[in-house]
Amino acid sequence: VLALSSTEVDVSPVQVGQQITVKWRGKPVFIRHRTEQDIAEARAVPLEDLKDPQTDEERVERPEWLIMVGVCTHLGCVPLGQKASEPRGEWGGWFCPCHGSHYDTAGRIRKGPAPLNLPVPEHAFLTDTKIKIG
Ligand code: FES
Repeated sequence: VLALSSTEVDVSPVQVGQQITVKWRGKPVFIRHRTEQDIAEARAVPLEDLKDPQTDEERVERPEWLIMVGVCTHLGCVPLGQKASEPRGEWGGWFCPCHGSHYDTAGRIRKGPAPLNLPVPEHAFLTDTKIKIG
């Protein structure tokens, strides 16, 4: 069995408030350079409000960088919200139009049929702007 591949991403061009999508193991990985407001909103949420309770701190290694597999945990669509023109749902994160799942600025499921948060892949910061995924 071949070792599952990892990928390195240079995020230096990604400004605060922007995001990029990279492919990893055939799946889209969302990398969002979060604003102070994104982070503050994610951290203000009481855990009891969450269907899949996880703190923001558990989901990010560095608060400004949120890294997740961009596959909805309902039926596997790619949620909207990576482009400025796309809807981000009621919690300002991502919105999956298939059956209306809303994810917050930490990628946690807040409303709709998806049962789980968008998964955070194993990753590590090699430098301040270089991230190894996988
Ligand atoms: Fe996302 Fe159905 S696949 S709501």
